[in-house]
Amino acid sequence: AIDIAKLRDQTGYVTLDSGFKNTGATKSAITFLDGEKGILKYRGYGIEELAEKSTFLEVAYLLIYGALPTQKQIEDFQLQISRHTLVHEDMKKFFDGFPSKSHPMGQLSSLVCSLSSFYPESLDPNQTKEEFELTIIKLLAKMATIVSWIYKKSLGHPVIYPKNKYDYVSNFMYMTFGQRTEDVVIDDVVIDAMNKLLILHADHEQNCSTSTVRIVGSSDCNLYASISAGISALWGPLHGGANQAVIEMLEKIKNDGGDVDKWVNKAKDKNDSFRLMGFGHRVYKNFDPRAKIIKKACDEILAKLGINDPVLDIAKKLEEVALNDPYFVERKLYPNVDFYSGIIYRALGFPTEMFTVLFALGRLPGWIAQWKEMRENKEPIGRPRQIYVGEKNQDYVDISKR
Ligand code: ACO
Repeated sequence: AIDIAKLRDQTGYVTLDSGFKNTGATKSAITFLDGEKGILKYRGYGIEELAEKSTFLEVAYLLIYGALPTQKQIEDFQLQISRHTLVHEDMKKFFDGFPSKSHPMGQLSSLVCSLSSFYPESLDPNQTKEEFELTIIKLLAKMATIVSWIYKKSLGHPVIYPKNKYDYVSNFMYMTFGQRTEDVVIDDVVIDAMNKLLILHADHEQNCSTSTVRIVGSSDCNLYASISAGISALWGPLHGGANQAVIEMLEKIKNDGGDVDKWVNKAKDKNDSFRLMGFGHRVYKNFDPRAKIIKKACDEILAKLGINDPVLDIAKKLEEVALNDPYFVERKLYPNVDFYSGIIYRALGFPTEMFTVLFALGRLPGWIAQWKEMRENKEPIGRPRQIYVGEKNQDYVDISKR
């Protein structure tokens, strides 16, 4: 491999790769992705098999600790997590301060960052292995509670406290929708769909939010603040925020009379900034393997729940037109994971503004694993260079003469 730093010292030249389209920032043993062939693997296990056979918690263990857990290991992991699902009562006061219409992602980012104040031991970059494990467990455990509380508060409902007899995903669904089901754990079909969605979002190598987590953490910044930064990066509609943008777009098309061709043409018009949300991917140039699995899950769950959503008809038409249109075919723009995830979240009863928060809940194990790997590998602080294109020398002019 070329030693870029040495090359720069010898030549004075800096490489420029806007958007890091072909620049590796690290070596990683967590997730393998082949964008041409549409392959995604966590620690060597195909995403298809994990989505079919595994649970979200098991996949979280796999990503963070590097191997699938034994029965005993997963039971211990679940037990440890269940001991930390409560969040500090004072965190509820945050909700009194947020304006009623504040976006759930802003709330999530703030609440996760605030964990560093409630657990200041996390600020120590030299935590022992055991202390660090606890910092991770607390985050995994409290994130589900925080996410469900954000939802309950958005409705003006009282929050529901965790019930630790439930597994991770069931507990989350209970805290979110519990009162609707009168303490009965939500239907297996729903729990299964939720597990699949969270597994498919669990890691995706060096994407925008994960790179953010790694670069923030590279300054020895604590885990909670680093993950909070990742949550902010995920919020944008070109990244995780696309799942919210997809449903908003489908509704707009429906309310506009459902003329799909008109919107496809709008997306193709280079004088129009509109893009088909949920289409295209920086790395996948063939198909998004997650989208394939999610599309199937989407069909299944809608059939099982007996849902007939007019927005889904628009989505199907859009998919068909876009997949046959030379503009999209030539540019290899296929529906991505976000195109379908929103449709399932909607069917499960989540409001649109919660979609990206659910993505964050799924991505959490990946962010933690990547942060941990970066620290264990003792990676240097991330500090990109630049090509300076501004003024060379200017003479200072007194304000009275400008
Ligand atoms: N609709 C219409 N045209 C598009 C779209 C789209 N969704 N996506 C890309 N294009 C076009 C671009 O205009 C460009 O055309 P040109 O070559 O004629 O100029 C070409 O396809 C390449 O696009 P880039 O923006 O260069 O591709 P890039 O890799 O930088 O962007 C991205 C990838 C951000 C995902 C883009 O496809 C996009 O904006 N998609 C919509 C948002 C979205 O769905 N994001 C979720 C991504 S998945 C995730 O984060 C989990």
